[in-house]
Amino acid sequence: TPQHLIRNFSIVAHIDHGKSTLADRLIQLTGTVAERDMKAQLLDAMDIERERGITIKANTVRIDYPAKDGNTYVLNLIDTPGHVDFAYEVSRSMRAVEGSLLVVDASQGVEAQTLANVYTAIEADHEIVPVLNKVDLPAAEPERVAEQIEDVIGIDASNACLISAKTGIGIPDVLEAIVTRLPAPPEKDANAPLKAMLIDSWYDPYLGVVVLIRVMEGTIRKGDNIRMMRTGGKYGVDKLGVFRPQMQDVAELGPGEIGFFTGSIKQVRDTRVGDTITTEKKGAETPLPGFKPSIPVVFCGLFPVDANDFEDMRDAIEKLALNDASFTYEMETSAALGFGFRCGFLGLLHLEVIRDRLEREYDIDLITTAPSVIYHLYMKDGERRDLHNPADMPDLTYVDHVEEPRIKATIMVPDEYLGDVLKLCQDRRGIQLDLTYVGGRAMAVYDLPLNEVVFDFYDRLKSVTKGYASFDYQLEGYREDNLVKMQILVNDEPVDALSMMVHRDRAEMRGRAMCEKLKDLIPRHMFKIPIQAAIGGKVIARETLSAMRKDVTAKCYGGDATRKKKLLEKQKAGKKKMRQFGKVEIPQEAFISALKMD
Ligand code: GTP
Repeated sequence: TPQHLIRNFSIVAHIDHGKSTLADRLIQLTGTVAERDMKAQLLDAMDIERERGITIKANTVRIDYPAKDGNTYVLNLIDTPGHVDFAYEVSRSMRAVEGSLLVVDASQGVEAQTLANVYTAIEADHEIVPVLNKVDLPAAEPERVAEQIEDVIGIDASNACLISAKTGIGIPDVLEAIVTRLPAPPEKDANAPLKAMLIDSWYDPYLGVVVLIRVMEGTIRKGDNIRMMRTGGKYGVDKLGVFRPQMQDVAELGPGEIGFFTGSIKQVRDTRVGDTITTEKKGAETPLPGFKPSIPVVFCGLFPVDANDFEDMRDAIEKLALNDASFTYEMETSAALGFGFRCGFLGLLHLEVIRDRLEREYDIDLITTAPSVIYHLYMKDGERRDLHNPADMPDLTYVDHVEEPRIKATIMVPDEYLGDVLKLCQDRRGIQLDLTYVGGRAMAVYDLPLNEVVFDFYDRLKSVTKGYASFDYQLEGYREDNLVKMQILVNDEPVDALSMMVHRDRAEMRGRAMCEKLKDLIPRHMFKIPIQAAIGGKVIARETLSAMRKDVTAKCYGGDATRKKKLLEKQKAGKKKMRQFGKVEIPQEAFISALKMD
């Protein structure tokens, strides 16, 4: 395809503002898929999506569009993941295209993810076409939202496309805007040494690993022997093609084109998003700039509830890791929980996705320990260590100081909930950076410790704002603070799974809350159980769970036989999920509940 007839673009939007629906419409209107094959949410419904269960990776589709100027253009749409956990992948896929459609729900307005994604697009030097969606809704206020886009984002929205992706209004205008307002890829030499960027990859049971690429310079052909410049892997190109959205073979892809290849690549781990692909012979000398592997920032321990599941769990984790280079794991033994794994994730959503898959697809009951971040320990002897697991925190006498990762968080919320949001951020050691109003909503920007966000910040934010807040963040770097390890002792035995790093000033409060919670969560035993929180050797909070007197069921429920039976059954079911700590049994939910803060 001549380069001036190519348009590569992505759609950026807040969740639910209509990205998938618009993509479907574009595909449908250009006849890329025959009407009878058109399913709602086509991009989402592709097999790989179904297999993964969640739209977290980029997808792409190539559309032929006969424009009003008489030319037929090739439009390549890349669907980018929307969640902050995958920010690096979003920013890479943005670098593979020249423009973006900025979709904003005209009945809702700009949200935190709209901002985060559009800034990524601006950083990637995109031309941006604002699209106001859902104008069919009575609550739509396109003028107000256009103004908001200009105020908040600072781009011209006077000629925004007004559309309804649902009814189809305005879709032809969007197609014209793509060819007239978005730039063609920069002219590059098709005979230059090949430089193609790896946008995404996934495992296909029939084809092996499928690699999505954007050719920057040169040409890739079926049968070429290629090399990945960062990982050094060498492969033959067995199959080369484009997505329409189903796979269609092509003989070659030139500068500006987007497509895929396969080449007997065994595991997704061998491919790195952002890597440069070149030919083995007469290849490029320098890779494309800006590569960085996505690194885990949130860690937690995963342990099987039933120790007999450990081998199955190891197999499952190895399988999941084959398809996800950003998920890390190593074996961990916990005095309390037995054998398990210390796992690293890109963020909380990533953690949930992996944990759910282990439980659902591999049928393994898991105990998840408190999510933690990587602390930088500066030792008195001058050494710097990374602390991934609070349980490994060395004695404070050896540590000079501790640094923790901080984030810049952007929260948008209707005015009436602002007070609660500010309080929440304050409680989590946040420092306010900015507070402005945009179109009737407040926008608060905070510097927050990541540690305080990985517990249950999203949940708390949702509940104090009845779901009306939107939230987005980026990592900002490390900063020193007064951080210590707090241990929990049950019946004088430390429960390593409940160890956590906390700020010294908040330790008493957190310790007390934890002990109180555990007191409710741990069933009574035949003896008295002290529950303590301690820093170093010093106890900072304490509760005592009193002993139960003989048969609790007999006492509580006297003559009511059915209630008694129910209670016994419940206790029996609960038994399976109990862990033994010295002489004390602790139910599994206690860990999860105890780690949530109120
Ligand atoms: P994610 O894929 O979850 O990020 O969301 P998305 O941004 O792709 O949104 P999606 O296309 O799934 O649309 C979200 C909801 O809005 C769906 O229920 C759509 O049917 C609805 N919707 C999309 N466009 C319109 C529109 O123009 N008008 C109306 N009334 N509803 C729409």
